Amino acid sequence: VKPLEPNLRVPGPTPVPPQVLAAMARPMINHRGPQFRALLDEILAGLRPVFGVKEDVLIFPSSGTGGLEAAIVNTLSPGDRVLSVSIGYFGDRFARIASDFGADVMHLDFPWGQAAEPEMVAQRLRLDPSIRAVLITHNETSTGVANDLEAIARVVRDTPALLIVDAVSSLAALPLPADAWGVDVVVTASQKALMTPPGLALVSMNDRAWLAHQTSRMPRHYWDFAAAKKAQDKGQTPYTPALSLLYGLAESLSMIQAEGLPAVYARHHAVGEFTRRGVQRLGLSLLADPVHASDSVTAVRLPDGMDGKALLSLMADEHHVVLAGGQGSLDGKLFRIGHLGWVRLPDVESVLSGLRTVLPGLGYRLDG
Ligand SMILES: Cc1ncc(COP(=O)(O)O)c(C=O)c1O
Repeated sequence: VKPLEPNLRVPGPTPVPPQVLAAMARPMINHRGPQFRALLDEILAGLRPVFGVKEDVLIFPSSGTGGLEAAIVNTLSPGDRVLSVSIGYFGDRFARIASDFGADVMHLDFPWGQAAEPEMVAQRLRLDPSIRAVLITHNETSTGVANDLEAIARVVRDTPALLIVDAVSSLAALPLPADAWGVDVVVTASQKALMTPPGLALVSMNDRAWLAHQTSRMPRHYWDFAAAKKAQDKGQTPYTPALSLLYGLAESLSMIQAEGLPAVYARHHAVGEFTRRGVQRLGLSLLADPVHASDSVTAVRLPDGMDGKALLSLMADEHHVVLAGGQGSLDGKLFRIGHLGWVRLPDVESVLSGLRTVLPGLGYRLDG
């Protein structure tokens, strides 16, 4: 008997479609030969519309955090003043990476569950014209909140500061036309809405960001974007590429292209709305400010006194639904449902029906 595939509803790694898994089983090729060049060209062409950029996206074997570090060390110098706009756990991490490399980090923090207010970002930039970069998370996976990145980009692009965006849990789920919005650097990873296993970090850089790169003095070697670009321009990567993951990414990008980006975003929005409505119908409440609730992940407050670990275990053991807990200060206070990448309404229906069965056993009264 084939074991039931668990319904993996953590916000990454996300389920990988069978055709992507099959593509990854292909044999190795010479990474300095014409076949690799064709593969890389196909991937770069597929990535351009997803990032909304005209420049090639840089690809590294790494998780998303490596991409965030790479973005910082390739655009900044020690002592540079940086504004960290954080709305949660991953925003705080981005700030720590910058301070670890010697940036002078100013903090603009918002309560977890809220989005950043563009006017407050504008105010901080007006007060301190020496700020060289703004770091922000597009979609805060720990709280299920999506920032209004278009509005934030509008206030940053009128200043000399670079806008560096963590789009790990948003790219290919939420619209992010980087060139049109004036986002200078966008970082994402393969294991979320790109429907590929973990292991690739992807970074876009616009002209302003490349200009900053020329004078940036933070230490780097493996991450050096000039070396990566030079190699990619020749149809190669500076070091051995994660070939199998690239086979998978080419396949997932062709799925995205076949569905069409507007349809991909509309599907995420429909699934997001469906998740929020379903959770609220169970009488549970969301952490996110409803105006800024994310279409890729939903954070649900645990009812008072409920043991979150017991809830997650019951959902996994009895319903084959794998959910995530809270992170940082939200540990034990909520659970999260990932709905990004290869996801459709029935995937969330089974989460909701599992919750409906499991919650009463944990002392929660379902109303209605
Ligand atoms: C918004 C955000 N940033 C950064 C990361 C870190 O990515 P990784 O675990 O791939 O290093 C994650 C992972 O969940 C994320 O959701």
